[in-house]
Amino acid sequence: MSESKIVLEAKGITKQFPGVLANDNVNFDLRKGEIHALLGENGAGKSTLMNLLYGLHNPDKGEISVGGKTATILSPKDSIALGIGMVHQHFMLIPVFTVAENVMLGDETVKNGSLDRATVAARITEISKQYGLDVDPNALVGPLPVGIQQRVEIVKTLYRNAEIVILDEPTAVLTPQEADDLFRIMRDLTARGVSIIFITHKLKEVLAIADRITVMRAGRVINTVIPSETDSAQLANMMVGRQVILTVDKKDHEAEEEILKVEGISVRDQRDLETVHNVSFTVRGGEVLGIAGVQGNGQTELSEALTGLRSPTTGKVTIDGKDLTGKSPRIITEAGLGHIPEDRQRHGLVLSYSVADNMALCDYYHAPFSSRGVIQPKALDENSRRLISAFDVRTPSPFVNAGKLSGGNQQKVIVARELSRNVKLVIANQPTRGLDVGSIEYIHGEIIKMRGRGVAVLLISAELDEIMALSDRIAVMYRGQIVAIVDAKKTTREQLGLWMAGAQVQAA
Ligand SMILES: Nc1ncnc2c1ncn2[C@@H]1O[C@H](COP(=O)(O)OP(=O)(O)OP(=O)(O)O)[C@@H](O)[C@H]1O
Ligand SMILES: [Mg+2]
Repeated sequence: MSESKIVLEAKGITKQFPGVLANDNVNFDLRKGEIHALLGENGAGKSTLMNLLYGLHNPDKGEISVGGKTATILSPKDSIALGIGMVHQHFMLIPVFTVAENVMLGDETVKNGSLDRATVAARITEISKQYGLDVDPNALVGPLPVGIQQRVEIVKTLYRNAEIVILDEPTAVLTPQEADDLFRIMRDLTARGVSIIFITHKLKEVLAIADRITVMRAGRVINTVIPSETDSAQLANMMVGRQVILTVDKKDHEAEEEILKVEGISVRDQRDLETVHNVSFTVRGGEVLGIAGVQGNGQTELSEALTGLRSPTTGKVTIDGKDLTGKSPRIITEAGLGHIPEDRQRHGLVLSYSVADNMALCDYYHAPFSSRGVIQPKALDENSRRLISAFDVRTPSPFVNAGKLSGGNQQKVIVARELSRNVKLVIANQPTRGLDVGSIEYIHGEIIKMRGRGVAVLLISAELDEIMALSDRIAVMYRGQIVAIVDAKKTTREQLGLWMAGAQVQAA
């Protein structure tokens, strides 16, 4: 693709937010029909640069040109008119609307005074066929799996005739299968001349699919390289400015007494379908039990049932001998649970609260944060400064609202809070989703430290590498059941992969 012409160019882009220079004299270009990956640590300024190209923010300095002409992009309307489309890090679809309604939102086709749904639906079906997207225009968006919702976002950009598509961390929420499907779609798009900017933290993906890779750090572009001339270690180094150890150092550790005991629980999801059937297992102090499985096999409902976000229909959950079946999150938290939830914006943070308040969200009513019913701002402040430094949360101050932080830094606020509390059990659901390699290294180290202190850890992760690296025992979940529990040292990636795909377990 190296001879292709440049379809978009950003020159000397600078953007200052209160207390943060988010983009510092950034130069970036995109060629026709290429996949240009954008890498960088959490808070490096990737989403900011994309929001500038898409007109959600305006640069303080610098110039953007599209198709060789200087462009004035003051709002997404301008950007869409220039043929730019964006799929955001956190989706922007309306769940109670159909696919067609979501796609035409803001660009409604009207015929004889009413919405022309038929024409829109036909166009969606056509786009869907052309790019193998398999999207039904009449389906309601809410119940669709995330992978399909994402395709709806892609259809939305194509519906508006986008020739430049920005994908901000599209694979963070996808299963490996869905990610492969997305890569196929991305290749189809580029083969038809669409140019793609692709943001991800997964180095393997970048090396597999990108034509060029640009790395950002602290608001600046560090370098642009091509995959054949680099590797994971070098990319990691460019991102965080130091060597990153991509493997976890974990010593043997004697498991202690049973902390979490789950006996025959079944759980129904919001559509009232039983998605967890009769699941039993235990986690001991000083042990990491990993739950491997393709997303959507009941892991979400299982962790919701264990953390009080949902009641199991049958069965029993005990923590350190105390029956906590169906109890509220507050009661379970009080009993010694630390919880890193899957959906950080819904269950992990209050986006309109400060970082400091979010870091004390579970214990603000206890000493040292409260004294005789009065909040102690000094204690909140000290706690947050300590955690911000330990977990390297990139924020201008503890007083900034959590919603202003970059996606990965929001995640770090939750992880810092939950891993710093005095708990007996940690349930970590996708703890490193959206985090850069340096932060993953640190958080893996913290999880292993908690295990060393005798905490029981239940790790639920879609990343098989993460499960293999941290777990002492691995349970495989398939169609709502635990189909195998094995010693992590005595199994292989391949074997786990087979069980995850539904292969029968041989009797030992
Ligand atoms: N609307 C905003 N108001 C204030 N500060 C902001 C805003 N948006 C971003 N920032 C700050 O700009 C910096 C860059 O954030 P950005 O979201 O671009 O990072 P990123 O590279 O996308 O990180 P991640 O990988 O975590 O998503 C961060 O320090 C963030 O706190
Ligand atoms: Mg981002």
